[in-house]
Amino acid sequence: MAQPIVLSCFQTRPLVQAREAGKATAAISPDLGLTVVEVALDPVGVRFPGGEALPWDAVEAISAAENACFAVEGGAARKIQVFSEFTNRVYSLMPTGGAPTMLVSGIPMHRIKGTDPHRDTLEKVKAVRPVVGRVLDTATGLGYTAIEAAKTADLVVTVELDPAALDIARANPWSRALFGNPKIEQRIGDTADVIEEFEDETFHRILHDPPAFSLAGHLYGGDFYRQLHRVLRRGGRLFHYVGDPASKSGRSVTAGVARRLQEAGFKRVVRAPRAFGVVAYK
Ligand SMILES: C[S@@+](CC[C@H](N)C(=O)[O-])C[C@H]1O[C@@H](n2cnc3c(N)ncnc32)[C@H](O)[C@@H]1O
Repeated sequence: MAQPIVLSCFQTRPLVQAREAGKATAAISPDLGLTVVEVALDPVGVRFPGGEALPWDAVEAISAAENACFAVEGGAARKIQVFSEFTNRVYSLMPTGGAPTMLVSGIPMHRIKGTDPHRDTLEKVKAVRPVVGRVLDTATGLGYTAIEAAKTADLVVTVELDPAALDIARANPWSRALFGNPKIEQRIGDTADVIEEFEDETFHRILHDPPAFSLAGHLYGGDFYRQLHRVLRRGGRLFHYVGDPASKSGRSVTAGVARRLQEAGFKRVVRAPRAFGVVAYK
């Protein structure tokens, strides 16, 4: 089956310019920058190679929306956004020049200032390289850390609290491998509950990329850290995203995180400033 077309202002603004310049065709990415196709610029709108069409008013509406991505369906553009009755939060896909991020109640789930979600993901995963054996990814989100870890690991178990977040991931071309890679096993639930199901020393690596402290404080607490320590193998490593180490709040949260990880049994906790987090060793 053909992949759905997903567009943001980064793709459509050049189309508007090409039309204004009198061009009859233009190159555009139908999947937020992953691939490129040639489209026809008709008087009524844009026509994609598969026959899908989008009128100019829809193209202009996408171009005006800086913080949203759109799925093209039945000749119209639908904003990729879900309200979760489970958490009472709004989830949406926010474009960047590269991989999009997910907004949860307006808060981006990846770094976008001075970097992009893809580079942000590479830094997080690199902090515990080599990423080998079994990996626990505590917070799926768009699946970027799970997808990156699965490139070298044997198995990645990834846990997401809110099915609405996975609805957004399903609509995101950059998250496709989350749903197609047999090395990635998805679980739904609070990671603080799901982790209790794992045997001691199950994982060689843990990637802990939780939402901000204000959204999920228990994922920064001693009880959860003792579980992380329990399920990690001796010699294993944990990456814990914390936030900008140069900011006042980042500094104080990092100090508390490092102290509680040590109290939970991790023998060494090292700052990983490029990845905005810490690495803990068992
Ligand atoms: C910062 S994002 C993770 C980004 C992810 N590492 C990626 O690469 O796309 C945090 C995610 O954790 C989810 N979440 C929040 N609380 C959670 C919990 N208690 N257990 C599991 N997931 C949770 C949020 O819905 C959100 O999707």
